[in-house]
Amino acid sequence: MIKLHDKHFKPFLSEEQIQAAVKKIALEIAEDYRDETPIFVGVLNGAFMFVSDLMKHYPHDCEVSFVKLSSYQGLTSTGIVETLLDVSEDIEGRSVIIVEDIIDTGRTLQQLVHLFSDTNVKEFKIASLFYKSEIYNGEYTIDYVGIEIPSKFIVGYGLDYNELGRNLKEVYQLNPSHMINLVLFGKPGAGKGTQAGFLKDKYNLKHISTGDVFRFNMKNDTELGKLAKSYIDRGDLVPDEVTIKMLQDEVEKNPDAAGFIFDGFPRTTAQAEALDNFLESKDMKVDATIALEADDEVLTQRLLERGKESGRSDDQDVDKIRNRFDEYNEKTAPLKDFYSAQGKFHSVNGIGDIAEITGRLSKVIDNL
Ligand code: IMP
Ligand code: MG
Repeated sequence: MIKLHDKHFKPFLSEEQIQAAVKKIALEIAEDYRDETPIFVGVLNGAFMFVSDLMKHYPHDCEVSFVKLSSYQGLTSTGIVETLLDVSEDIEGRSVIIVEDIIDTGRTLQQLVHLFSDTNVKEFKIASLFYKSEIYNGEYTIDYVGIEIPSKFIVGYGLDYNELGRNLKEVYQLNPSHMINLVLFGKPGAGKGTQAGFLKDKYNLKHISTGDVFRFNMKNDTELGKLAKSYIDRGDLVPDEVTIKMLQDEVEKNPDAAGFIFDGFPRTTAQAEALDNFLESKDMKVDATIALEADDEVLTQRLLERGKESGRSDDQDVDKIRNRFDEYNEKTAPLKDFYSAQGKFHSVNGIGDIAEITGRLSKVIDNL
């Protein structure tokens, strides 16, 4: 993983893969132009490295020139591409091969073709090292393609992100969410704690269970603990300011975490908004909210079992359990709408084998 400006990029194409693609193009062109001397016209700045290596792999005579184009956005609705440097060589009657680093929408290419439309070139071909075929909507065939790639932003080997990354020998792909931040929710007893334990190992995440942190504080009789105890013993929720403060401490204590699993928070829409604000201030976000679903009968049984073992007061009393279910239905269920509106809500069946449930959760995470 590398960082350029504010963005993270992950390895995408190795030096070997790139060189193999460059060589392939060089030999394809050589095959077609064995009897003449083509002019390669590189498109600056991005193509400088590609042109250089292409020349090294080209086995016959050839000439080379460059054009520089610049895309401007916001000046017109379609955007315009301005020529900053014209081809200086006499290209009348010659075969020209445009050498592009990457073809995306094809807008730049359109302008290039226009540029050559007034000239009397014999033949006009296009070679591009990278080609985003899914997004290309131009009318010209790309004659020589190195590697077809998905329409995700890449850097390296001449390609830049705000001018950085051009010097890299390999190509990296934008990794917009290098962190995985999850919110696990479900009624008490749904298995959030158990599953979070597996997920944190599997994905190298830090599990923040608000309940566990409160219980730790209560056991050690801290200020926060005493405060929290008065609410939890009644089966009520701890006030938001207290909880957010605690979360903040936990996140700050773990700057190297690959992400966080928030378990037990948020429980209300107001808390979800507070969490979004807090994460945004840290350049983070919630990537997915996963609800572990199970029905009340199953959950009540599980909780009573757990209460017998742990001695947790709120797990031993059916009325307190009911109270927490009601609380969940009333306040937490609207979170489903909140996160659904952001396209982040996922529901997972929480009944079954523990490993099986972990598998269901992993499937959601792997698809993020
Ligand atoms: P098009 O005009 O949409 O085909 O875009 C082509 C130009 O956009 C390229 O010459 C690059 O300068 C830039 N570009 C497109 N995709 C990428 C990318 O993934 N990384 C870096 N620059 C890109
Ligand atoms: Mg370019």
